[in-house]
Amino acid sequence: MQIRQANQGFNFDKYPTFEKDIDPKQRAWIEVKGKAIETNVRHLRAKLSKDCQLMAVVKADGYGHDAKVVSEYAIKGGASQLGVATLQEGIKLRSCGVKIPILILGNLYKKRDLIISFKNDLMPTISSIRECLICNNIGKHFGLKFSLHLKVDTGMSRLGFESDKFVQQFQKIKSFENISIKGIYSHLSSADEENSLEPKSITQLQRLKFQELLKQINLKGNHNIKIHLSNSAGMLLNKDFHFHMVRVGLSLYGYSPLAKIDKNLSLTPALFLKVKVAFIRIIDRGVKVSYGGKFVSSRKTKLAVLSIGYADGVPRNLSGKIKVIYDNKLYPQVGSITMDQMMVDITGSNEIKVGSTMVLLGSEGDKTITPIDWANESNTIPWEILCSFKNRLPRVQVD
Ligand SMILES: Cc1ncc(COP(=O)(O)O)c(C=O)c1O
Repeated sequence: MQIRQANQGFNFDKYPTFEKDIDPKQRAWIEVKGKAIETNVRHLRAKLSKDCQLMAVVKADGYGHDAKVVSEYAIKGGASQLGVATLQEGIKLRSCGVKIPILILGNLYKKRDLIISFKNDLMPTISSIRECLICNNIGKHFGLKFSLHLKVDTGMSRLGFESDKFVQQFQKIKSFENISIKGIYSHLSSADEENSLEPKSITQLQRLKFQELLKQINLKGNHNIKIHLSNSAGMLLNKDFHFHMVRVGLSLYGYSPLAKIDKNLSLTPALFLKVKVAFIRIIDRGVKVSYGGKFVSSRKTKLAVLSIGYADGVPRNLSGKIKVIYDNKLYPQVGSITMDQMMVDITGSNEIKVGSTMVLLGSEGDKTITPIDWANESNTIPWEILCSFKNRLPRVQVD
């Protein structure tokens, strides 16, 4: 009887079979607010002097938001350049029709990759004379100049020329005729630390080292070379860190790495993580929930099973530590987060039904949960939370 009822009114033949026909909001998804990106860029640019440019860092698929959407709105907001980590990320953006300069922040060390970079008009980051020579040879072969940025290490010990050899090496690089140095940059390791503005902080020492090197190589009269040092945190410290361009990631997406310092920064989170309730069950008092049975109900409990888990990028070590929003109320997640599902205690709610949408990250009414909250609970950083979301979660653009 029940089966017959469930089948009533169904025209089985009209239902499609293809993956593309599945509603992206059928299970769990990420909503990306393009307008928020645009507004954030405008807001950040307002802190820069007129001739200081903003590079939107859209690596790792736009910090998990969808690099294409982020780039489109960042450019609308006034971003002058884009930063990616890999050759593939850069090529993808070029194939989407992005025309503005793109810098590859990672290292390309093979001739083949540098040729592909050149052919796609992507600027590589150069950290050695050897890489510079390869670029020069590629430029010579095509009878053109290969545009690139030089990176100098001022304390990160990651990519970049060694600072004590840079001045000497720069003299040699200057003689390479088939490269065009479009930028010289370095990267701050600790700008988000609370003491960053103190005179002897790592951040101030990095800035001073960078400035000293720039003084020694003497770029006077060369207006084509963009000098840049700062990520979001560095940019938000003060104008001493701005130079000709800033490279902003996290703040572009609506989160301040300096929330404790800059309380007036009104950035808008661009990402919402939403999920459907797939099932509802009521359990008695004393019933174990999820793997390991670590959560035991202390009363008769109504559970919503949400179709999202660590295979989507929700860290398993957030089990029992997060809340989910529905209709401006917070509900606690209980038991271990599993690969594809998690349980939420919705006792007392009559409104939440199978098919209801709950918010894991984002705002509803006056409730907000951000990747910073998750990061604090799981002993990591918001960058990692954002970059962990898997492709299994469709990205849905909303404005
Ligand atoms: C070289 C470089 N510049 C800029 C950024 C942007 O940093 P943030 O997201 O803190 O603004 C990153 C990010 O890791 C980076 O690696």
